[in-house]
Amino acid sequence: MDADVVAQAAWIPLQGAVRWMTLGQFAVSAFVFVLLFFIAAPYGRHFRKGWGLVMPTWSAWMLMEFPSLAVMLGFGILNMKTIGPVSIVLSLLWIAHYFYRSLVYPFLTGLRTRTFPVLLLFFAMIFNLNNAFINVNMLVTRPLPDVWFYDFRFIAGIVMFFAGFVLHAHSDLVLRRLRREGGRGYSIPREGFFRFVSSPNYLGEILEWTGFALASWSLAGLAFAVFTIANLAPRAFANHRWYKKTFAEYPAERKALIPGIL
Ligand SMILES: NC(=O)c1ccc[n+]([C@@H]2O[C@H](COP(=O)([O-])OP(=O)(O)OC[C@H]3O[C@@H](n4cnc5c(N)ncnc54)[C@H](OP(=O)(O)O)[C@@H]3O)[C@@H](O)[C@H]2O)c1
Repeated sequence: MDADVVAQAAWIPLQGAVRWMTLGQFAVSAFVFVLLFFIAAPYGRHFRKGWGLVMPTWSAWMLMEFPSLAVMLGFGILNMKTIGPVSIVLSLLWIAHYFYRSLVYPFLTGLRTRTFPVLLLFFAMIFNLNNAFINVNMLVTRPLPDVWFYDFRFIAGIVMFFAGFVLHAHSDLVLRRLRREGGRGYSIPREGFFRFVSSPNYLGEILEWTGFALASWSLAGLAFAVFTIANLAPRAFANHRWYKKTFAEYPAERKALIPGIL
């Protein structure tokens, strides 16, 4: 039998488990969305004691996000010959994002003294493994035909992904500059998209994964986009409340996440 067919067939017995992993991710998103309105995840400005062991934040980001890069790279390379050009493009978008997030962002990011709860790292790693696996499974088992390159959903999704990537990477840069110029603490960001919303980095991340879901037109992509919104929207509102409480002069017209609306 052809080696490519054998490689493809190896995924068939996994499909029952993948279905549950995908449905599980939707269920976790609903749970996380409600929970995070009551309890802000205890890292960054919302860090507080009482969440067990902690570790340096920069290394937590690396450990948390690297599994997403490793799973996509590993399975992508193993299945390179069978997945087809559309899946290759989609996997490259994923790899670019997670290369930045796991191997660039942690080394650029501000203070080396900040700490991050190990418990949170553990949950994030499990989520990232689940999420990367269902998405790599989608790219391997359901390669889209080449005509998909000309489909409106693919083109709009790719544009959205790039716009989101630029927005979130630029917003990260604005925050880094603020830290360099403003010292160890927090100050009011006034550059770039921060003029309109308190968390443009989250908005960028949401745009990226909504774009990926659209371009891949898949349940796995949708499960990731839904989780990103469930995780980051409540935190954007918590950040916005925190800014307003911390700085009396915080711009009143600025919204939390969606310019002019929310
Ligand atoms: N896909 C997902 O579900 C997901 C989940 C979480 C995060 N992310 C992404 O990961 C990235 C980091 O997330 P995050 O929650 O740590 O973002 P964040 O709260 O905006 O913080 C980003 C960095 O900027 C610093 N910072 C934030 N506000 C500041 C201010 N007003 N003045 C000076 N420095 C400031 C933070 O320092 P401190 O560490 O000292 O607060 C941190 O180093 C974001 O781009 C986000 O989109 C994605």
